[in-house]
Amino acid sequence: MDGNGRWAKQRGLPRAEGHRIGMESVRAMVRSCSELGVEYLTLYAFSSENWKRPRTEVAALMYLLEFFLKQEIPELNSNNVRLAVIGRTHDLPASAQKQLNKSIETLSKNTGMTLVLALSYGGRAEIVDAMRGIAREVKAGHLEIADIDEVVIARNLYTGSIPDPDLLIRTSGEMRISNFLLWQISYAEMYVTEVLWPDFRKPELLKALEDYSQRSRRFGLVNPPKAK
Ligand code: IPE
Ligand code: MG
Repeated sequence: MDGNGRWAKQRGLPRAEGHRIGMESVRAMVRSCSELGVEYLTLYAFSSENWKRPRTEVAALMYLLEFFLKQEIPELNSNNVRLAVIGRTHDLPASAQKQLNKSIETLSKNTGMTLVLALSYGGRAEIVDAMRGIAREVKAGHLEIADIDEVVIARNLYTGSIPDPDLLIRTSGEMRISNFLLWQISYAEMYVTEVLWPDFRKPELLKALEDYSQRSRRFGLVNPPKAK
């Protein structure tokens, strides 16, 4: 989700206002994706690098996070949405962590779309944490070095039980990954749009899905593998 700051600047508004309207896009996206039958929606809400932004902006983002978690639970629940979180969430303010755990618990029995929030998330940090987990397993004698394979690594990532994304959407025209799901996006289809996140609503999502539906995914093979 990129471009909140530019959206605000274009209108002579404070950056926090861009984040506030960006949250409306989050709300719209969660609703549309769950209606459309998307199984997992992962939102890059706050990166490990975002901590270095001005304190006031970080505070505004944390406030919006808690506000969203509190306010959206009834609607998420009525849409049968589950909630998961990836990232170094122990770095978040205690009140946000508490609200997160409460929301995850409240929605845990749901069986529809899983909304995954990437918070204090960095792809490299995730790989570091996975390597530490694997090293601990080896040291404890539960795992042989020869048995470390792609499955073991994937299982040790924050996304352990979450499938790899099929489609990666980036708003605001930036042609880079910015430390997002580095391992998991190996074969994800990418869609970059100039539209700024606060303007990214259902019609834009449908454009992205339409574009995605025209892709031929071969996964390194000559022909696309047969659907399971
Ligand atoms: C992305 O918008 C939102 C978050 C970091 C949560 P930006 O704040 O990065 O917006 P730009 O890139 O300054 O326009
Ligand atoms: Mg940005």
